[in-house]
Amino acid sequence: MTERQFIPMIRAAREGCQERIRGGFPLQEHWSILRPAMADPLAISLPRLRTHLEALSRFGRNPDGRGITRSCWSGAHEEARAWLLGRMKEAGLSTWVDEAGNTFGRLGNGGPSVITGSHIDTVPNGGPLDGALGVLAGLECLQTIHESGARTRLPLMVVAWSDEEGRYAGLFGSSAFAGKLDAKQIPRLRAADGERLVDAMARAGFNAYDAPKARCNPKTLSAYVELHIEQGPHLETAKIPIGVVEGIVGNRRNWVTFRGQSDHAGTTPMAWRRDAFMAAAEYALRARRLIITKGSGRSVTNFGRVEVGPGVSNIVPDRCVLLHEMRELEPRVLARLERQCLALARSVAKKWRLKVTVDPISKSQPARCAPRVMRCVEAAAAGLKLKVKRMPSGAGHDAQNLALVTDSGMLFIPSQGGRSHRPDETSDWRAIERGANTLLYTLLELAG
Ligand code: GLV
Ligand code: MN
Ligand code: MN
Repeated sequence: MTERQFIPMIRAAREGCQERIRGGFPLQEHWSILRPAMADPLAISLPRLRTHLEALSRFGRNPDGRGITRSCWSGAHEEARAWLLGRMKEAGLSTWVDEAGNTFGRLGNGGPSVITGSHIDTVPNGGPLDGALGVLAGLECLQTIHESGARTRLPLMVVAWSDEEGRYAGLFGSSAFAGKLDAKQIPRLRAADGERLVDAMARAGFNAYDAPKARCNPKTLSAYVELHIEQGPHLETAKIPIGVVEGIVGNRRNWVTFRGQSDHAGTTPMAWRRDAFMAAAEYALRARRLIITKGSGRSVTNFGRVEVGPGVSNIVPDRCVLLHEMRELEPRVLARLERQCLALARSVAKKWRLKVTVDPISKSQPARCAPRVMRCVEAAAAGLKLKVKRMPSGAGHDAQNLALVTDSGMLFIPSQGGRSHRPDETSDWRAIERGANTLLYTLLELAG
């Protein structure tokens, strides 16, 4: 399908579903331990969930047939969104897409909602489960509940949040929903290749300047819970089927630019050179060491992109730009590490007689998960006789934005080999079934 064909299709889907989260519901505190009895026949359909996961994985499949590239607002993403809206309607949900491009399906009316979901965008050359699992398992849970004829006291919603992976701005859709999108930043948001968010959203039929209107009324929310693959090795190593997330790391993403002097690479004495790449290389190695030795023990860092200019063999580089990120669960440690890295960049630049600038791209704050949601996940897993382990999330997730507006939590299932953000990211189908059923009972518990 061409973009010309699918944009009117997605517009029509949106216009047919004008319903939005209505404000003004009283925020209810309701929590009762409703342990699922083992005899309870309610269970998700693994064959249907598998069919949906396999179908979604075909949108944005790379020509080599392996990885998936489905960045937000791309043609593949918009086709996937239209497909998802179709599946939500088929499941008996009322559907809508908000101004930030978040795609919702709801079951039931009245009272603050219990929300589940994740994202359907992927990193470049990513795998089939990161995000997709949380959205499609959430959909499967709502469909299972709807088909069973069971009625929950609170409405249930499933959502696919926009641009979780941050081609333009990480956690974009959930930031807008949580009311933390800075409208002044919108014209400045760009992908690493320079493409503006405003243009990408316009191509997909959205007005980026309207995105802050997606802000929710927190009184309409009761809780948020997100199922995700762990994306690391801990659950698999410990042979534990369900991770109960206690907190989600925050991150800092910065462009670090060293500027020196271009010179003839054959004739300039080594001691004379003001080589921007050498400074950047020294900074990268020392920043890594700093974060390992001065962080919390769980702090991590990554250099995801290096650009060297002018980029030819016979000129000493006068410019080197690093894309630097760091992550940590403890807010004060994260802030300190960022300050220490800035001081390090300045001292390395001085040593090499260069200039350095550090330009922030994005930052997210660490979040603690709500004890009420953690207890519901644990009660659901106990009812299914599944062992659990409390753990932090080293990856960023929309649940950290939801924590600003409601009780928010997450559950993890093991990732095979701890692999994620790569084409061979996978999990066992039984592990997926266990995770989806734990989500099902968590939702029933939260929604009464
Ligand atoms: C999201 O996948 C992240 O980068 O943590
Ligand atoms: Mn994800
Ligand atoms: Mn991801």
